[in-house]
Amino acid sequence: MTYDRIKYTISDISEGIEYDVSALSNIASLLYSEIENVNWVGFYLLRDGKLILGPFQGKLACTEIELGKGVCGKAAEKNHPIFVHDVHTYEGHITCDSESNSEVVLPIHKNGQLYGVLDIDSPLHGRFNGCNQDGFIEIAEEISKVLSKTKA
Ligand code: SME
Repeated sequence: MTYDRIKYTISDISEGIEYDVSALSNIASLLYSEIENVNWVGFYLLRDGKLILGPFQGKLACTEIELGKGVCGKAAEKNHPIFVHDVHTYEGHITCDSESNSEVVLPIHKNGQLYGVLDIDSPLHGRFNGCNQDGFIEIAEEISKVLSKTKA
C-alpha cells in the first residue's frame, strides 16, 4: 500500500468509531500489516506525565516509559519525530524486541495537544531513512485528525 492509500484507509476505517482505543487498535493492525519490513507497531500514550503502552502489534513491550527516556520518551519530550538508523547506537534506546534495528517515533496529537507517540520498529538497518520520512509524518497527522473526532 502507498502512503497515500494508508492515509486514506486510516480515515476510512476510523469513520464513526466512538473511542480512541478502538480507532488506535485498528490503526496499529493496519500499519503492521501494510508497512513493509516492520516487527513492532504501536502507540505509547501520555498519561500522568509518562508514556504508557497503548494498542500495538508485535512482541511484548515495556509498559511505561518516562518522558526523555528511550526514543519514545525523547520524541514525546521534544514533540518532534525521531528517525533512528541504528537503535544499537542510539544512547538510551530501550530494547523490547531484540530483532529491531531501526525505528521511527512520531508524536500524535489530539486537538492540538500531545497525546502520545506512534512507534514503528524494523528489523532492517536504516529502514526509515530517506525519502519516505514525509509519508510517515503525514500518517501521524492523519491519526491526529482521527483522534480529534473520537473520545478518550
Ligand atoms: N524503542 C522504544 C521502546 C519501545 S519498544 O521498541 C516497543 C524506545 O527506545 O523508546
